[in-house]
Amino acid sequence: MVVTVYDVAQATGLSIASVSRALNARPGVSAATSARVMRTAADLGYRPNEVARSLVAKKTQTLALLVPDITNPFFPELVKGVQSVADESDQLLLLLDAPSEPDRLAQRLAALHRKQVDGVILVASELPAATGDVFDGMPGVFLDRAGSGGAPSVHVDQEHAAYLATRHVIQKGHSRIAHIQGPVNLTVSALRRSGWERACNEAGIASGDNRVFPGDFLEAGGHRAMERILDAADGTTAVFAANDLSAIGALACCASRGIRVPHDMSIIGFDGIELARYTSPALTTVAQPIRELGEQACALLLRRIAGEPADDIVLEASISHGGTVREWSGRADESSGGV
Ligand code: RIB
Repeated sequence: MVVTVYDVAQATGLSIASVSRALNARPGVSAATSARVMRTAADLGYRPNEVARSLVAKKTQTLALLVPDITNPFFPELVKGVQSVADESDQLLLLLDAPSEPDRLAQRLAALHRKQVDGVILVASELPAATGDVFDGMPGVFLDRAGSGGAPSVHVDQEHAAYLATRHVIQKGHSRIAHIQGPVNLTVSALRRSGWERACNEAGIASGDNRVFPGDFLEAGGHRAMERILDAADGTTAVFAANDLSAIGALACCASRGIRVPHDMSIIGFDGIELARYTSPALTTVAQPIRELGEQACALLLRRIAGEPADDIVLEASISHGGTVREWSGRADESSGGV
């Protein structure tokens, strides 16, 4: 049997209005009466009706976070940041898959609107073609991958972070640096390639299409790309991978072919996921402040829901020094890999 406010009123001899004020900690009820109501409600097993409560408050205290690939360890670290701020604000956080097909993404966002979530944080792969409001009228924030329309975004400067990673390798003496690209349909992949190109061009080293190898942000794609780089045997001594999982796949490929990292081949990644600290050697990478990205996105969304100004937030990435990039003087005898 569902215990209602009416049952609590009956049991305490109070009016429904007094019981409701006590249960919702609203003024007009003495401390003693409030305590008696709470005690009786607990004894009866009363549970507040969240649907009724949200109809009155016109808020559901529920946020939605959509991410593209929960199997990629970058995203759980991002979710923990969002969750920490949602918890502090007593918000329930719904975690959903962000469909890669724009139409399915639009349908999912419309479904969230019908469910009356208070706001949405979206890590989008591709956005619906319509240039209107992706969030279908809900308060929304783009996270990690910049968005479009009127909603603000929380992300790192992708191009500059990739530039920092590539410049780090160049400053170690490398002048033949291949790039394992991210999925070509993602804006972040193009921005990271641009950062690699800018650093190479600034140093006067090759950055043509033949230095770029397709990847998919997954270990398998990184492994395949590294196979092609090694098969080319064109003097490449360093690789910049568009994310850490691709770099980890490239590390595995080198190990399988007896190529020593970093002695024969240097590798730098992009993300700074926890897993990258435990490769052998630990991966050198350009680390995004992953948890802070999530925290800032949730705080920004709560400001939007409260009707406060909410502008883009761009955070800084930084080099995380592992053991996969070494000094290179350019002498042929330095490497027995002949790559
Ligand atoms: O590894 C997954 C990638 O997709 C990360 O680089 C992150 O920025 C996301 O966009």
